[in-house]
Amino acid sequence: MRNKKTIEDVDVEGKRVLLRVDFNVPLYEGTVVDDTRIREALPTIEYLRDHGARIIIATHLGRPAGHGEFESQFSVMPAALRLIQLIGQPVTVIGGSEIAGEEALSASLALKDGQIMMLENLRFDDGETANDLNFVKRLASLCDIYVNDAFGAAHRPHASISGIAEFVPAVGGKLLAKEVNTLHDMLQNPERPFVAILGGSKVSDKIGIIENLMDSADTIIIGGAMCFTLLAAQGHSVGTSKMEEDMLDVAKRLLDKADKQGVNLMIPTDVVCAEAMAEGVETKVVSVDEIPDDMMGLDIGPETRKAYAAAIADAATVFWNGPMGVFEFPSFEVGTKAVAEAVASSDAMSVIGGGDSVAAIKKFGLADQVSFMSTGGGASMQLLEGKDLPGVVALQDRG
Ligand code: 3PG
Repeated sequence: MRNKKTIEDVDVEGKRVLLRVDFNVPLYEGTVVDDTRIREALPTIEYLRDHGARIIIATHLGRPAGHGEFESQFSVMPAALRLIQLIGQPVTVIGGSEIAGEEALSASLALKDGQIMMLENLRFDDGETANDLNFVKRLASLCDIYVNDAFGAAHRPHASISGIAEFVPAVGGKLLAKEVNTLHDMLQNPERPFVAILGGSKVSDKIGIIENLMDSADTIIIGGAMCFTLLAAQGHSVGTSKMEEDMLDVAKRLLDKADKQGVNLMIPTDVVCAEAMAEGVETKVVSVDEIPDDMMGLDIGPETRKAYAAAIADAATVFWNGPMGVFEFPSFEVGTKAVAEAVASSDAMSVIGGGDSVAAIKKFGLADQVSFMSTGGGASMQLLEGKDLPGVVALQDRG
């Protein structure tokens, strides 16, 4: 996004700035369980405050029904309270279900330089996800400048992400710029060898990323249940493992493409099997040539762990997305833990792409040992598929 304007390219002093963040954070009994997304937005909020902007923070949180009703379990209040603790200044939340109504407008006009207010959950109004023109105009009326720092939601063509940018000058925040630039640089100009580790359960979910990464990665490591579709495409019998029958041709195409492009596509050579996906069941390590008919693979095996760790140790750039096994169960977490440890102990530029892999690296207490962890799941996946993000496209170009 180096061709797009950011907050540093505009004068925000005395201006009402609508700052779209992604405070879609996990809550438990009304408190924020993981405040990473709020902390990551602080540099932008502090920059705007210190430069005299009048800040109107807006976010979605979860997926409320969106019928214009206030639903307390989706209120942004817990996120606002956490922000107040972190930033050490008051933040007024404009309550109720009418987002960007009269009350919000008068509050925005009463803001003084450096003050902060926050709107309730944008998705209480279904105009947000519908990118409804009326709602867009109401949002735009609250501000003089629009700043998008919601990387995690930048793949959504919603009113507060792309619609609003047609009505007010629109620029990116620091988090958005950092996320997009890091992922772009990794794809376009990685230090080599570039090793990408992809896990997860479905080839169909990751096909776009695997294909796109084949153009830049030297090695692609495959784990998670999707490896069984690739193993089946190679002619292995995979027992009762999760497998996508209708993706076998796609899997064959991927294997061919890797071969033709000289990409080292690493697939498990052994797996941890069990009769059922449950904790406490009997497990067995087998070669991928010997998966019993009545068993399913639920994690990568020791030989595979060793080979994967060696490839990761040799890398200069590592990207990781998706677990190697069912890491929620201790019996099947070993493969994911081994990869997390290999990534954490490598000297490479290491990038973790959102979602489950971030959860995994945090679970193993290794999060502070990686170079970059994306705050966006779907958004980082879309970028890695080589697609544009509506929230970035909508911003003003640099002159
Ligand atoms: C996320 O958590 O991935 C983003 O906040 C987007 O949320 P959504 O999938 O509900 O649009």
